[in-house]
Amino acid sequence: MQNQYSNKMKSIGGYLELQLSRGEEFYPSLIKLNTGRNAFEYILKVKRYKLVHIPYYTCEVMLEPLKKLGVQFQYYTIDENMDPVLDFEVGPDDGLLYTNYFGLKQDTVIRLSKLFENLIVDNSQAFFSEPLEGVDTFYSCRKFFGVPDGAYLQCTSDVRLKLEKDVSVDRFSHLIKSIDMGIESGYEDFIVNNVVLSNNPIRKMSSLSQSILSGIDYKACKYRRNSNFMYLHDFLESYNDYSFDASSVNGPMIYPLLISSTEIRNKLFEKRIYVATYWPNVLEWTTKKMYEYYLTTHLIAIPIDHRYTHSEMKRILNVLKTIL
Ligand SMILES: Cc1ncc(COP(=O)(O)O)c(C=O)c1O
Repeated sequence: MQNQYSNKMKSIGGYLELQLSRGEEFYPSLIKLNTGRNAFEYILKVKRYKLVHIPYYTCEVMLEPLKKLGVQFQYYTIDENMDPVLDFEVGPDDGLLYTNYFGLKQDTVIRLSKLFENLIVDNSQAFFSEPLEGVDTFYSCRKFFGVPDGAYLQCTSDVRLKLEKDVSVDRFSHLIKSIDMGIESGYEDFIVNNVVLSNNPIRKMSSLSQSILSGIDYKACKYRRNSNFMYLHDFLESYNDYSFDASSVNGPMIYPLLISSTEIRNKLFEKRIYVATYWPNVLEWTTKKMYEYYLTTHLIAIPIDHRYTHSEMKRILNVLKTIL
């Protein structure tokens, strides 16, 4: 289905349009949708799960589709490796949602896929981790690239939903402002544009987001992420309470530094180095004794994305060295 802005026959002439590079998307053959949470909704609609097991350690927007469709859910805990504590049964009509945390948990995704037929992989934090054959998997593009929205879905059911195409022009202001006025000037718009993504119907990915995603040099983006990540890891490994296998990093989302000190976040903020909290809602869902609560309050998500080189990583390390 088209939206009111899609014409059947293209006009010729008129003013010149915004010119973006034309290449290939990273997942050209997956289903293109508007948001990660709606990709989850798509899975729930076609798979008709009666109950879904979800981690305490995730973003609250993942509850939107469950509540909307009236699907029951049960939280589960994760251990110090961020693997599920499998002390519960996953029945034949149940789904098991697992987040590929920071793009570092592909081994766990592979292990779980062998144990559970009804696995749903949330790769919102793992754009570059390819979907496993036969496993429902979704991606949220705005966590990795400057797009207002956009999601990819691998859905193992043959059922397809008929959907209208989304229009994301009204959620685009922060991205334009970031170019013309600097990223901090666009921050308020970013917050507002985030909020309007809530309770949006499932739609196909907008032409705007798809055009931008078609012009990205994915190889270069992945390379920079890996390189920045390893640069930080070389120094931070011995301080990091979260231990992980760094031998196979694959374009991770951030560098997760877990540390008992609570002053790091503010120190970085003072130097205009901004780190996100994953996820504030976890503090409401859990008790102070739970590992997820500790992760939310103590994990420093250091930016390592394609905008940066070792020079910014060095600046971050210089701040950290005054505290560690
Ligand atoms: C782990 C995780 N999964 C899914 C989502 C939802 O993605 P979207 O905002 O594209 O719906 C988010 C955040 O928004 C997230 O942090």
